[in-house]
Amino acid sequence: MRKGLANYGDAGFSLFLRKAFIKAMGYSDDALDRPIIGITNTYSGYNACHRNVPDIIEAIKRGVMLAGGLPIDFPTISMHEAFSHPTSMFTRNLMSMDVEEMVRAQPMDAVVLIGGCDKTVPALLMGAASADVPAILTVTGPMITGSHRGERLGACTDCRRLWGQHRGGSIGEEEIEEISGKLAPGPGTCMVMGTASTMALCAEAMGMMLPGGAAIPAVHADRLRHAEATGRRAVEMAAAETGVRPTEIMTKAAMRNAMRVLQAVGGSTNGVVHLAAIAGRLGFDLDMEDFDQMGRETPVLVDLKPTGQGYMEDLFKAGGLNAVLRNIAHLLETDCVTVSGRTLAEDIEAEPMWKQDVVRPLDNPIHSGGGIRLLRGNLAPNGAIIKQAAATASLLKHRGRAVVFTSLKDLAERVDSPDLDVKADDVLVLQNAGPKGAPGMPESGYLPIPKKLAAQGIKDMVRISDARMSGTAFGSIVLHVSPEAADGGPLGLVRDGDMVELDVEAGRLHLDVSDEELAERRKGWAPPPHEDVERGYKRLYFQQVLQAEHGCDFDFLRKHPLNTKSL
Ligand code: FES
Ligand code: MG
Repeated sequence: MRKGLANYGDAGFSLFLRKAFIKAMGYSDDALDRPIIGITNTYSGYNACHRNVPDIIEAIKRGVMLAGGLPIDFPTISMHEAFSHPTSMFTRNLMSMDVEEMVRAQPMDAVVLIGGCDKTVPALLMGAASADVPAILTVTGPMITGSHRGERLGACTDCRRLWGQHRGGSIGEEEIEEISGKLAPGPGTCMVMGTASTMALCAEAMGMMLPGGAAIPAVHADRLRHAEATGRRAVEMAAAETGVRPTEIMTKAAMRNAMRVLQAVGGSTNGVVHLAAIAGRLGFDLDMEDFDQMGRETPVLVDLKPTGQGYMEDLFKAGGLNAVLRNIAHLLETDCVTVSGRTLAEDIEAEPMWKQDVVRPLDNPIHSGGGIRLLRGNLAPNGAIIKQAAATASLLKHRGRAVVFTSLKDLAERVDSPDLDVKADDVLVLQNAGPKGAPGMPESGYLPIPKKLAAQGIKDMVRISDARMSGTAFGSIVLHVSPEAADGGPLGLVRDGDMVELDVEAGRLHLDVSDEELAERRKGWAPPPHEDVERGYKRLYFQQVLQAEHGCDFDFLRKHPLNTKSL
């Protein structure tokens, strides 16, 4: 067992005591005299995306033992998107703190992280970056697709589409019940290019996961072989002197590779927030202008929903991330070293390639306009983003009258009202749904089309908020407006009838109201009231949560907090 972790004053006694207690687990001296590999057990009965974690742990343990190490798994917080009130973003930082402190508190020479559902991969990487013990990631993998009356289905792009049909009356009660059993037909993560798929691919691209790991379906035998190989590699990492710590793998260049891949796969907008949070743990900020430039020059290559047609199992059969990396290798910094111990260039070359049509070449992309673009202007001084590939081309340059909803509650109460004064070329604005506003920056940026317009066949409108959007959704939707309304951002000053201008090509989001008028409005502004913020985690959250451009991390968890007032 690793020495030097004394906290009883007497180092010898401390080690003796640790040995005595760990021996109660039944380990022999021989077992304990080996590299110890911690494994984060992110299983939870609430988390179907992590249903296969016990099998994965068994395979990791096998790999660790085959390589001569001792595997020890330990629980961490686990979160499923559907069961994280108020939002999983609200608890992501809590999970990251749990991971950091448990990795640091317990003796281990390396740690295997098991991610999966949307917020878990970011939380694990954030915690691991801060603890900086040699770490390697594997994921639970995407679900296989379901099918309903001959139609292939996947969570949750099809969830929205079919629920929309149910709302519109073309799918009845009985059938929608039946469909609820078909959308998520097994263990694993949402199998479209949602946040889970995006973050798994980004994590592999930044070198934190062995090649191929992101796309292997949760139920495929390769998933377990990947886990076994991960366990084996963790033992080698435990013995290595350099190059295996998260801060050595997740360099600025590695993060740029992840940003490039996020654009090339048509990834979830949530990926931007999570990469920003991970970067903050490593001591730098994401260069959003750089990211925007990548968005201009990197078209969407992967034919997966919601931008394209396929699902993650199709990407797996097409060669997984490797097929993407090959096509953009000249745009990547391929001398980055990954957890495999090789460079990214060597990793790319080590895998075979074949003819397929899920991952397109650069000259024949799925969407030529690029993925996610950065917007700035007097409505979003610190930035906002739009997923261009999921937007309606004719709305990318638009000027319209604001129809303002002051909160999620206001939205729910009025959006479907026949009295709502709204036209198809108006701009829907949602305030107070950001990191502090809601709180937890919910995925409510996908504002529904007002019922009376939907009934006329209107499918898309420009929508603007400080909220996030599920990676599985689509539309002309401006997200992550910063500073958020509840933090005093100009978004909170918009009123019904103001003219709003969006120009994606120019990267501009403008409120056509004079500075004098905005200053006047600001005098009458007050932050929205919040309940139950006096104690507990929620108090910490409100005191510490940062805006979207800093990944909604807590300031004190950053390597270099922005508020430098010392204790
Ligand atoms: Fe877990 Fe979608 S709900 S990945
Ligand atoms: Mg999601």
